Amino acid sequence: MAQERESQGREARERETNEREPQAREPQERVARAGEVSSSGLEGRIALITGASSGLGRHFADVLARAGASVVLAARRMELLEQAADKIERAGGKALATEMDVTEPESVARAFAAAEAQLGVPDIVIANAGVAEPRWFTRLSAEDWRRTLSVNLDGVFHVGQAAAAAMKAANKGGSIINIASVLGFVVQPMLSAYAVSKAGVIQLTRAMALELARDGIRVNAIAPGYFPTDMNRRFLESELGHAMLARFPMARAGALGELDGALLLLASDASSYMTGSVITVDGGAALAVG
Ligand SMILES: NC(=O)c1ccc[n+]([C@@H]2O[C@H](COP(=O)([O-])OP(=O)(O)OC[C@H]3O[C@@H](n4cnc5c(N)ncnc54)[C@H](OP(=O)(O)O)[C@@H]3O)[C@@H](O)[C@H]2O)c1
Repeated sequence: MAQERESQGREARERETNEREPQAREPQERVARAGEVSSSGLEGRIALITGASSGLGRHFADVLARAGASVVLAARRMELLEQAADKIERAGGKALATEMDVTEPESVARAFAAAEAQLGVPDIVIANAGVAEPRWFTRLSAEDWRRTLSVNLDGVFHVGQAAAAAMKAANKGGSIINIASVLGFVVQPMLSAYAVSKAGVIQLTRAMALELARDGIRVNAIAPGYFPTDMNRRFLESELGHAMLARFPMARAGALGELDGALLLLASDASSYMTGSVITVDGGAALAVG
């Protein structure tokens, strides 16, 4: 009787272990391409970028399209997405604009379904959508706090889940790149909710990488410093902004093109042995105090 109980217990433990640790299913063709560092070309790949209506996301869509990927541009402002997609198509690329609110799982699912129906399951997903609403901590309402966390952290969670589910179902593996920030490591006045959301993105990246590696899905993050976009242009051009930039080791903001190396590395097989990494691109901004 005791023996039978022991054996049943062992079987249950084995079942549980098998469920928790799926067999390594890294697609063989991907392993065969490993180390082809020169092949950052993304011909035949499908990339979905959230927050692609402006700033970094729109730039990432252009760069990935130029590298040969078909791109899905997702955000809420469809007019801007369609303009960006048109421009990519006119330059000879393949692009699809699709509406997505990253705070709504149903909206994320609809956008992934549209991408899959029209172009195929994405191999590369850039979770880039984000907001920053500077407020002093003592004046930050619970709604302000929730709004920032809901786009910047919950959004990365919803997009990551949809991406992982689609990649797993298609048994094709892939690369998920979460856009964090140097404010995931350090803090700045008036940006407590933002900094907390980005620290969360960094930990979520590591947790996803750990669980998805056996499915051939790599998950990494880019932590940018300061790049002028709609999010921060007014501040960076102000006296306070200039003074802050002057204190940084490289004493300037970044240009969007300076993110391309990290983006193409993580999107391509050149990073086939990287997962759970966070690449900082900040001109040294987060290195030192003053
Ligand atoms: N610029 C920097 O210096 C810097 C530094 C570090 C990190 N970042 C990060 O880079 C990412 C892009 O920021 P950015 O500088 O390019 O700012 P941006 O120009 O303001 O772009 C933000 C993008 O996020 C989208 N977005 C906002 N809320 C959304 C929602 N609920 N659902 C879907 N999309 C949403 C916006 O599109 P719609 O309004 O059309 O939905 C827009 O395309 C953010 O995650 C930001 O935190 C930026």
